[in-house]
Amino acid sequence: MTAPTAPTDQLREAWDALADGFDRHLTPHTIAFGQEIVSRLELGPGRRVIDIGAGSGAVAIPAARTGAEVVAIDLAPTMIERLTARARAEGLATLSAEVGDGTALDVGDDRFDVAVSLNGVTVFPDLTAGLDEMVRVTRPGGEVVVGTFGPLPEVEFVAFLLAAMRAAAPEAMPASDAPPPPFRLADPTVFADTLRAAGLRDVTVEPVTWEIPFASVDDFLDVGMHGHPLPGQLRAGLTEEQAVAFRQVLDGMLRERSGGEAGAVLRASMRIGRGTV
Ligand SMILES: C[S@@+](CC[C@H](N)C(=O)[O-])C[C@H]1O[C@@H](n2cnc3c(N)ncnc32)[C@H](O)[C@@H]1O
Repeated sequence: MTAPTAPTDQLREAWDALADGFDRHLTPHTIAFGQEIVSRLELGPGRRVIDIGAGSGAVAIPAARTGAEVVAIDLAPTMIERLTARARAEGLATLSAEVGDGTALDVGDDRFDVAVSLNGVTVFPDLTAGLDEMVRVTRPGGEVVVGTFGPLPEVEFVAFLLAAMRAAAPEAMPASDAPPPPFRLADPTVFADTLRAAGLRDVTVEPVTWEIPFASVDDFLDVGMHGHPLPGQLRAGLTEEQAVAFRQVLDGMLRERSGGEAGAVLRASMRIGRGTV
């Protein structure tokens, strides 16, 4: 008899299966937003930073470019391989990347000046455990920084994806209209209260707009299908005709946005929440 797969193993497998596509199609976009976060922090040689749910380096790579010592943690081994390859290609000697669980870090207390997570802890099933670990490993006086999505309708690439899926195959969509977990801190008050409940003080939440250029519907699908396991699971449930209709609807939405062109620039409402330990 095979032992049942633990939830963490299932999560690791789901993210690992996306990692190659995530690195190719998402990281070139998310690294631009990671740079936005890094530009708000005082980083440089001698500063120690930990990036939780680091993916293939959206924040860790720009942070290491400042000369800071950066530790990147991700559950998925292939994400860590890709991140390491990016660091090596840029000669970033102060970056180390390790496979690890952000809800149970193998790191002592008070080790870092800054703990950061971009769409990392906010996608964990146990957000509280992820935030608690970020606080625990940050020294008193250090900073915890979390980047996450604003309200779903204002994160256009996700809203377009779900609207096209609903139009092509309404029955394939989850019955509940509740936004998926990555959107649970979209409300700035809820976000700030959550950071305070984790023990942070001097909490701020800054709204930021991120513009994402898509060259075509196929470029859009490459991004949309590799950002999170959920869209791929939904698309796997479509018939061939529904999959064709899904692509056609999306193509129409992008063309409508750009006055007939194949590609379009979509806006994503983001929040950067910060607090002091
Ligand atoms: C949406 S991606 C964000 C990656 C990166 N921060 C970025 O913005 O490009 C979420 C990442 O969290 C990782 N992840 C999920 N659960 C995790 C956990 N418990 N511990 C560490 N990483 C986790 C996934 O493997 C994935 O790389």
